[in-house]
Amino acid sequence: MGRVIPGPPTVEEVRQLVSSVVDPELGVDIVTLGMVPRIEVSDLGRVTVEIKLTIGGCPLRGQISREVQSRVAVHPGVTSVDLEWGEMTAEERSAVMTTARWAARDRAPETEVPAGCRVLAVASGKGGVGKSSVTVNLAVALAAEGFTVGVLDADIWGFSVPRLLGLSDRLEATAVEGRDKPLIQPHEIPVGRGRVRVVSTGFLVEEDTALMWRGLMLAKAVEQFLRDVQWGELDYLLVDMPPGTGDVQMGLARLLPRTDLIVVTTPALAAQKVAARAADMARRSFLRVVGVIENMSSFSCEHGTSYALFGEGGGQALADEIGAPLLGRVPLEPAVARGGDAGRPVVLADPASPAAAEFRSIARRLIDEVVPPVNMAGCSARLLAQVAAALDAAP
Ligand SMILES: Nc1ncnc2c1ncn2[C@@H]1O[C@H](COP(=O)(O)OP(=O)(O)OP(=O)(O)O)[C@@H](O)[C@H]1O
Ligand SMILES: [Mg+2]
Repeated sequence: MGRVIPGPPTVEEVRQLVSSVVDPELGVDIVTLGMVPRIEVSDLGRVTVEIKLTIGGCPLRGQISREVQSRVAVHPGVTSVDLEWGEMTAEERSAVMTTARWAARDRAPETEVPAGCRVLAVASGKGGVGKSSVTVNLAVALAAEGFTVGVLDADIWGFSVPRLLGLSDRLEATAVEGRDKPLIQPHEIPVGRGRVRVVSTGFLVEEDTALMWRGLMLAKAVEQFLRDVQWGELDYLLVDMPPGTGDVQMGLARLLPRTDLIVVTTPALAAQKVAARAADMARRSFLRVVGVIENMSSFSCEHGTSYALFGEGGGQALADEIGAPLLGRVPLEPAVARGGDAGRPVVLADPASPAAAEFRSIARRLIDEVVPPVNMAGCSARLLAQVAAALDAAP
């Protein structure tokens, strides 16, 4: 009785096998990612697989190679496996990132943040550039347009959002029907036709005991804020990120893969490098950078002379480098710091100041072009409010 010699696999069978290889960094199989443009099988069972890497010198090449070889070799009709390597074009690479983002979205665990909410993380590569000031002022400016805006203070080591918004009360948790544990109620500040809902570890611990918390615990705190806070309807959620990159950013990317990033930088060209690092980290956790905000830009004294105290051009240079728009340049202005100290953001405390005007203009750009609200209810409510305001203004 002769042994049955298995025939070569079909191209489709090989594709099936290759599609069990998952890009270790992106967490999605390489066929879905479009990394396998060509598969050929000869009559003798010789298989050739072309693999396009996102970048030529990809460090994962060895791992992907071993995986593809061993998975394809599983088919008894395969006599050899040859790999040919290619490199993606910029367009192909961006398509891969889009696919990875969608796939991550499907895998993301449940949070209390509603599906129609835009999530914007405000980050920078270094501390003290004004992330928290930008976060609270944008939140207030967005709320003033009639939206409900959540603020999550993820700067768990150096939370400052409670102070910037003049809030100090502890957060309460209340029992919610259908939930096995009580949900934390955010603080709520009404702003015009909208409102801001705020949570921070600052509402859970005293400022000086926070430092005793360990990193892991703190990263868990952010997770808890996403899962155990009764956010309710939200149009936007702004996340004040801790300085630098790391655990919190990765955690956010995993829990809320739809998060978009806003990078804050100072006008100094050197600060740019650090912010570029934050942007690079964002790319690796598949977060899209939707814009750059330059803070502490040139300051104009009352005589109209402008002083570029912290240098010039950093915002635009960074924006060009990472291919994201420069959303605005917030001037260095005592009113911003004063508003922070008084617990009343400059957008509310000194609406006529140039900094407040710039924050409002950035908020409008976010709403109109960069990240328009997903939730149509919020949108039509805003339209109705505008109609009502127009009618009120009519003689
Ligand atoms: N445009 C501005 N004009 C004047 N002062 C500003 C401006 N932006 C921020 N500041 C002040 O600079 C200081 C740092 O700002 P902020 O706390 O917002 O930065 P941060 O990036 O969140 O810092 P950290 O890394 O410590 O979290 C604060 O005292 C704030 O009031
Ligand atoms: Mg801060």
